[in-house]
Amino acid sequence: MTSEAPPPLAPPAEGEMVTAEHDGAVVAVAMLDGALHGFDDTCPHAGCSLSEGELDGRTVVCPCHMATFDVATGAVVDGPSIDGVKTWPVEVADGALVLGEPRDPEPAADEADAGPSTDDRPETDVAVLVELEHGAMRRQFEALDQLTDAAELTASWTTLRELLEIHASAEESVLYPRLARAADEGAEEAEHAVHDHNEIRDGVRAVEEHEVGGEDWWSALRRAHEVTEEHLQEEERDPLPLFREHTDRARREELGREWLDFSERHRHARGLAGEDVDPRSVVEGSG
Ligand code: FES
Repeated sequence: MTSEAPPPLAPPAEGEMVTAEHDGAVVAVAMLDGALHGFDDTCPHAGCSLSEGELDGRTVVCPCHMATFDVATGAVVDGPSIDGVKTWPVEVADGALVLGEPRDPEPAADEADAGPSTDDRPETDVAVLVELEHGAMRRQFEALDQLTDAAELTASWTTLRELLEIHASAEESVLYPRLARAADEGAEEAEHAVHDHNEIRDGVRAVEEHEVGGEDWWSALRRAHEVTEEHLQEEERDPLPLFREHTDRARREELGREWLDFSERHRHARGLAGEDVDPRSVVEGSG
């Protein structure tokens, strides 16, 4: 064991997770059957926070697209992630979490041992993926409200900021061009959604202008939260039901695979500038 993790120092309760900063990494620590497991909090698929997900048996399920990892070995058990996650040995000394040296993830189990049947595979209906990411955004905004440490705020905000951009760009690339073609009202809904995305991008840029954790930063974050929540509610009320009405399940699953590919290619918002997008270009690029 080499160094002590900063707060939260106390180990998590049974079935719970906490995060600890350790040598520049955010490490999720889970308590399962009385044993502590440390693993990289950042999902290798598209950068969501695994500690915002769910523990299921000895696995953790990512809240964004349901990649599933063995918490003890870091191996991929299921879902869209190709890579596993690093793990850390964890001990408790004087009531504080102490992390050892990270270990590379073990390879994924053979398919024959992999466990989940085809029926248990993660959902790839694009509309469901959109809704899952809405849930992840809401949880991440709420989680920020519980933090005070500047390093933790920075790490959590970075993950959320990246998710907001990946999500908006994926919708503009995969979902809205198809909706514009599929339904009479689709073009209008698509333009409106991209306008909302640009408002959210304005909100993200405003947060970035301020010192993390300062009064102005919190004020800009609350504004970004408001415009995001307004958009999520509108999207769940109008364009998503319209999209479902005008596309069949097979088409939505095909688009779901495109969505996952897009998220993987743009992990950590790689290649996405976060600049405003012309709503007409999304509608006209639908051919
Ligand atoms: S499954 Fe974790 S970010 Fe996609």
